[in-house]
Amino acid sequence: MAYKYSLFYWILLLICISFKAYGGNIFIDCGSQSNTIIGDRLFMADKYSSKYLTTSNQVLSNCSVNNNSSLLYKTARIFNGKTTYKLPIGRVGRYFIRLHFFPFTNKSFDLRKSKFWVSIGRFLVLRDFTPPQYPVVREFSLNVTSSNLNIFLEPADNSMAFLNAFEVVLVPDVLIQNDAISVPPVQDDNIGLTYRAFETLFRINMGGPLVSYNNDPLWRTWIQDDNYLENKNFTGVVQNRKVVSYAKSVGVATKDDAPLAVYGSCRHIDNPRESFNITWSFDISLGFQYLIRFHFCDIVSEDLGELSFNIYVNSYTVKESLDLEVLSKGRLGTPVFLDFVTPTAMDTNQLVVQIGPPIAYEAQRDGILNGLEIMKLNNYKILAATTASSLVPPSSQSGSGSKNKIRMIVGVTVGSVILFVFVGIGFLFHRRKKSHSPYSLTPETNLTVLASNSATRITLATILHATNHFDKSRVIGKGGFGTVYKGVLDNTDVAVKRGSRDNSQGQYEFFTEIKLLSQFRHKHLVYLVGYCDEGLEMILVYDYMENGTLKSHLYGKEKKSCLSWLQRLEICIGVAKGLHYLHTGTGRTEVENGVVHGDVKSGNILLDKNLNARIADFGLCTIVPGPNQPDVSVEVKGSFGYLDPEYFFKRKLTHKSDIYSFGVVLFEVVCARPAIDNTDPENPVNLVEWAQCLQKDKPLEQIIDPQLQGTINSDCLQEYWNIAGACVAERSIHRPSMGDVLWRLEKVQQLETPLTDEDESVNTANATEIDRGIDSLMSDGENLLTPFISIG
Ligand SMILES: *[C@@H]1O[C@H](CO)[C@@H](O)[C@H](O)[C@H]1NC(C)=O
Ligand SMILES: *[C@@H]1O[C@H](CO)[C@@H](O)[C@H](O)[C@H]1NC(C)=O
Ligand SMILES: *[C@@H]1O[C@H](CO)[C@@H](O)[C@H](O)[C@H]1NC(C)=O
Ligand SMILES: *[C@@H]1O[C@H](CO)[C@@H](O)[C@H](O)[C@H]1NC(C)=O
Ligand SMILES: *[C@@H]1O[C@H](CO)[C@@H](O)[C@H](O)[C@H]1NC(C)=O
Ligand SMILES: *[C@@H]1O[C@H](CO)[C@@H](O)[C@H](O)[C@H]1NC(C)=O
Ligand SMILES: *[C@@H]1O[C@H](CO)[C@@H](O)[C@H](O)[C@H]1NC(C)=O
Repeated sequence: MAYKYSLFYWILLLICISFKAYGGNIFIDCGSQSNTIIGDRLFMADKYSSKYLTTSNQVLSNCSVNNNSSLLYKTARIFNGKTTYKLPIGRVGRYFIRLHFFPFTNKSFDLRKSKFWVSIGRFLVLRDFTPPQYPVVREFSLNVTSSNLNIFLEPADNSMAFLNAFEVVLVPDVLIQNDAISVPPVQDDNIGLTYRAFETLFRINMGGPLVSYNNDPLWRTWIQDDNYLENKNFTGVVQNRKVVSYAKSVGVATKDDAPLAVYGSCRHIDNPRESFNITWSFDISLGFQYLIRFHFCDIVSEDLGELSFNIYVNSYTVKESLDLEVLSKGRLGTPVFLDFVTPTAMDTNQLVVQIGPPIAYEAQRDGILNGLEIMKLNNYKILAATTASSLVPPSSQSGSGSKNKIRMIVGVTVGSVILFVFVGIGFLFHRRKKSHSPYSLTPETNLTVLASNSATRITLATILHATNHFDKSRVIGKGGFGTVYKGVLDNTDVAVKRGSRDNSQGQYEFFTEIKLLSQFRHKHLVYLVGYCDEGLEMILVYDYMENGTLKSHLYGKEKKSCLSWLQRLEICIGVAKGLHYLHTGTGRTEVENGVVHGDVKSGNILLDKNLNARIADFGLCTIVPGPNQPDVSVEVKGSFGYLDPEYFFKRKLTHKSDIYSFGVVLFEVVCARPAIDNTDPENPVNLVEWAQCLQKDKPLEQIIDPQLQGTINSDCLQEYWNIAGACVAERSIHRPSMGDVLWRLEKVQQLETPLTDEDESVNTANATEIDRGIDSLMSDGENLLTPFISIG
C-alpha cells in the first residue's frame, strides 16, 4: 500500500515538475494559422491566443514576405483599436516579455505606417512607437504578482498596432536580486529592484560571437561588442570555454545568469606596457536609472591573483582593484557577475563603461570583461493618459492627429467617481485607493495633468546646482515626505523638497500638490516655484520661508522666538484667509465646492520674513464632490491630534474637517502647547481635551501661554477661545464655516487694536497689559517686581 502511494506520489511530482518548467512560458505566433517551431520552442498559432484577447476588433493578416527572416515575421495580428491580451500566469514572479515586430506590407495593409502604445501590466513600455523596417525584438521584464499578465496595445489616431509574435518567459527568482551597488554610492540605498520593470537595452558577449537564443536557457540573444568599442587597438580577445566551470556555491553565477558561450570568451587589456582602459560606450535615454550587470569569468589567468582591475561607469570608479578571486571564492574559471545601478536618473545620454588597470599600475596585471547587460529601469512618472485603474489603458482621444494633443482619460470606472472636477486631482484622488500607479519605460512622458497648468518644470541639473548636489549642510527639514534643502535659484532663496523614492503615497501627494498649487495662487498659500520629475525624482521648489513653521515659534526644543499676541492673531487670520480661499474655490467653476486641505496643522503653516503666514503641504488635498455627486469615502489621512473625529468615524472628508484642525491650531497658538503632548508617552495629552477640561475650573488667563499672560484683553481672549471651541465642536454641523471664523477673528483683532485714535489706544492697551500682568502674577504668587523692571 505504502509503495503504491509513493509511486503515485512520484508520478504526480514528475508531472508537477515538468509542468512547472513549462507552465510559466507563453509563446504566440500572432496571425499565424499554424503553430511555428523556432529552435526548441513552439510558438502557438494565433487562434490559441484569441481567447485571451479582451476585444475582437482586430484583423488577422496573413502576409507571406519573401524574406529569409524568421518564420515569426511572416504573419501579424493587426489591431485597429485598443486591445488587451489578458494572459493567465502559471506562477507569480519575474517574466521576460519579448515583443516581436517586423512591419511588412500587403495590398490592404502597410504596417510601416503603424503607430501605437504598449503597456505591460502597469508599465507603459512603448509610446507612439513605429517599428523600424527590419525585424526587432523589444525585451521587457517585470515582476508579475497577480494571476494575469496584461499586454495592452493602443493605436495612435488613424493608425494601427500590430504584433508578429510575443514571448512570456518565466525568469528564475534569483536572476534579479533586490539590491545592487549604487554608482556613485548613496546612503539610502533602497533600490527595490524586485518591484521595478526593466527594458533590456544591451546584452553583449564581450570578445565572443553572437550567442543566439537557441544557446541560452532563457532564449536571450547576446550580441558582439565590436560596435561599442571605442578603440580596439590595445585590446585582445580570449576564447576558452574549457576552463569555465559553474560552481554551485551561493553568490556565483549559474547558467541562467549567462550561458557558457558568454563566460567562455572575454575581451582583455592587451597592452602590458602602457596604462590603458578598454572603453565601450552605449546610447541611452536621459532621465532613467540603469542597472548594469558585469559578467566575469577568469579564463585568462594561469594562476590565482593575476587579475586586478578597476571598473568605471561614466568615469566614476565603481569598483577599485577588483579581485575576481574573491568573488569566485578562489577558483579560476568560475563565472560571477556584479550588479550596479545608477542611484538617480541619468543626466546624459551616453553610458561609458571602462575596464582599466588599478591606479598603482603593475605591468603584469590584466583586466577582463566577459559579458555586459544594460537594463533601463522604469521611472515613477504618472501618466495622465492612463486611468487610475492600473490596467485600464489610454482611451478617448479627442481631436485628431496632433502628437501633442491632450490625451485625457475619463475614468469611467464604477464606484467612486469624481467627474468634471479638474481631471488631475480627480484622477489622483481616484488613485488613492489603488496601490498601483502606471509607470513608464518610455522617454519623455508628457504629463498632461501638468501640461495644462502653469507649474514650471525645472531640470534636475538646475536643482543640483541650486542645492550644491543636495549638500547635507543645506538640509532645513526632514519628514515622511523626504528632505527639504535650502537652495538658491536665480539669486533667490528657495526651499527644495525632495520626496522619498519608492513611495507610492508620496507620488500621489507630489502630483496633487503640483496640480493644486499651480491652480491656486494666494498670499496665504505657499508659492510653488516649480517641480522636477526627472527619473525617480519628485522635487518641489517653493519660495523660501525665512521664519520656518508656526510650530517652531510656539513650543519645543527648537523654539525660535516668542510671538506676541497680535503677531499670533495676524498669523491665524492669514491662515483663515488661505483656507477660506481654498474652501470657496474662488472663481473656479471646476471646483465650485472648493478644496479641503486635509492636513491643517501648525507644522504646515510657514512664516516668511515678515511673519506673513502661508499654508503648505497640499499632498492630502481633496476636492469636495458637488451635491449631485456621490460622497467619496477614503482612507483616513492627516495628522494625529488634528483629526476631525467625525471624519475619523464616517470617513467623509468635508470642509468642516479643516475647520476642526484649524480649531486645534487656534488652541496651539494661544496655549503654546502641542496638539498631542507626548512628553509622557504612557499618557499623551490631547490639547483640546486638556484646554477644555481646565477651562471648567480655571480662568483662561491661567491656561494660556505664560508668555501671553497679561497681554490679552480679556474679552478678546474669551471671544478667541469661543471661536476655537466652536471649531472643534464634536459634530461638524455645529462648527462654523471658514468665512465665519475669519470674520470673528478679524473682530477680535479690531478689538485689540481699535482703529480710532491709535496713539491713545496703544497707551490704554499697554496699561491694561501691565495691570493684567500684575494680576496674573499675583494670583500665581510670584515676585511682583519683575514685570515692572522689565517693562520699565
Ligand atoms: C493582406 O491581408 C488581408 C487581411 O488579412 C488578407 O485578406 C489578404 O489576403 C492579404 N494579402 C496578401 C497579398 O497576402
Ligand atoms: C497564409 O499563408 C500561407 C503561406 O503563404 C498559406 O499556406 C495559408 O493558406 C495562408 N492562410 C490564409 C488564411 O490565407
Ligand atoms: C536568403 O539567405 C540566403 C543565405 O543566407 C541568401 O543567399 C539569399 O539571397 C537570401 N534570400 C533573400 C530573399 O533574402
Ligand atoms: C528581410 O529581412 C532583413 C533583415 O532580416 C531586412 O533587412 C530586409 O529588408 C528584409 N527584406 C524585405 C524585402 O523585407
Ligand atoms: C516579486 O514581488 C514580490 C513582492 O510583491 C516579492 O516578494 C518577490 O520576491 C518578487 N519576485 C521577484 C522574482 O522579484
Ligand atoms: C589603431 O591602430 C591603427 C594601426 O596601427 C592606426 O592606424 C589607428 O589610428 C589606431 N587607432 C586608434 C584609435 O588609435
Ligand atoms: C581610465 O578611465 C578612468 C575614468 O574615465 C580615468 O580616471 C583613468 O585615468 C583612465 N585610465 C587610463 C590609464 O587612461
